[in-house]
Amino acid sequence: MSLPSASRKAPVRVAVIGAGVIGLAVALELRSRGAEVVVYDRGMEIGAGVTIRAAGMLGAAFEWAAEDDNRALAALSRHAGMLWPDFAARIERLSSGSIEYSDEGALVVARNDAEMDWLESLAAACQARDLPVDRLSAAALRAQDGALTGAVRAGLLLPEDRQVDPVLLLQRLAAALSRQGVGLRFGRQVERIVGGQTFLFPDGDRFDRVVLATGAQSAPAFVGPRHAPLPTGLPAVLPVKGQMLALAPSDAMPRHVVHTRDVYIAPKSRWVLIGATAERGRSDTTVVPAALAELRRKAVEIAPGLANALELSSWAGIRPGSPDDAPLIGETAVPGVLAALGHYRNGVLLAPATAEIIASQIIDGKVSPLAAAFDPLRFDNGDEAPHSRSGSGLDK
Ligand code: GLY
Repeated sequence: MSLPSASRKAPVRVAVIGAGVIGLAVALELRSRGAEVVVYDRGMEIGAGVTIRAAGMLGAAFEWAAEDDNRALAALSRHAGMLWPDFAARIERLSSGSIEYSDEGALVVARNDAEMDWLESLAAACQARDLPVDRLSAAALRAQDGALTGAVRAGLLLPEDRQVDPVLLLQRLAAALSRQGVGLRFGRQVERIVGGQTFLFPDGDRFDRVVLATGAQSAPAFVGPRHAPLPTGLPAVLPVKGQMLALAPSDAMPRHVVHTRDVYIAPKSRWVLIGATAERGRSDTTVVPAALAELRRKAVEIAPGLANALELSSWAGIRPGSPDDAPLIGETAVPGVLAALGHYRNGVLLAPATAEIIASQIIDGKVSPLAAAFDPLRFDNGDEAPHSRSGSGLDK
């Protein structure tokens, strides 16, 4: 069975479920290509999910160079990094507001022999892949960023790694979407959608396509017009809890994103973020003082000026992982239902690339070569799924 072509004259109507950075970026791209778009979110206002709990790092080089095992993810990360300057400018233009996009580059530092080896392998990987990287002595590192007066032996500057403020990012994206005529429906937990030639939502609206961008939350169930389940074939999201600490900004804070092997510092104008734990399988948002103290201890080791900074806040966010830690982007086993899920550590970075892939598929019917490795049906053990899109299972 095939759904009506999205390229027919009437604009395609798309429901996006989830108002995190992925859902909003997808909505913006679809709207700019002529779709009518409504975004649903369970939260009463923007920011119910993990995006505003993220660090907002755009680690195209840091993540890409480290990604030896998954070349497709490396390529997607790099492509996303290249899209970001225009994406940031577009959001700022359409919302008339700043997202604190910074292209100062990221620093990676080593504190001991083992980390010196790690640093060197990261630098070599960057060079092998034509990613700009500068090797820095401890003195050169301090000249780059005067806050790094702690136990640093050497470092790297990754000039193409950038950052944004994720709180501003979400707010500005929402403002841009409203101005573009995208409906934002908050306080709507969509639990069940009736599929057929179109998709009927609980509020009575019908859509031609549905994009699932629910992050670590459960996605709605699909049923046919006579209520038979329509399995999407998606695997369960793997939650990975991350605890984070926010300290008051001061002159003693680094100006750059700084990574060690086990902690990162991401300075924003409102606060300095120090993250993060990675607790696989945990979906509670409890914050543990000992975990926060450990994060601060590691950050202070390299930037001692953070020792006495006032703690402004702390939280835990739930990263949406997948069985292979790579995202699920593309059509599910229910024709017309697309996944934009499982972005794990890199939702902010990957948002514009995901949006481009989903919009091309919906508007032009084209599957990007970049997306082939992220087929949502690549796992054998997805929900109830028949892993074939040919038998749609619609009981119309
Ligand atoms: N992207 C940083 C983190 O997941 O902690």
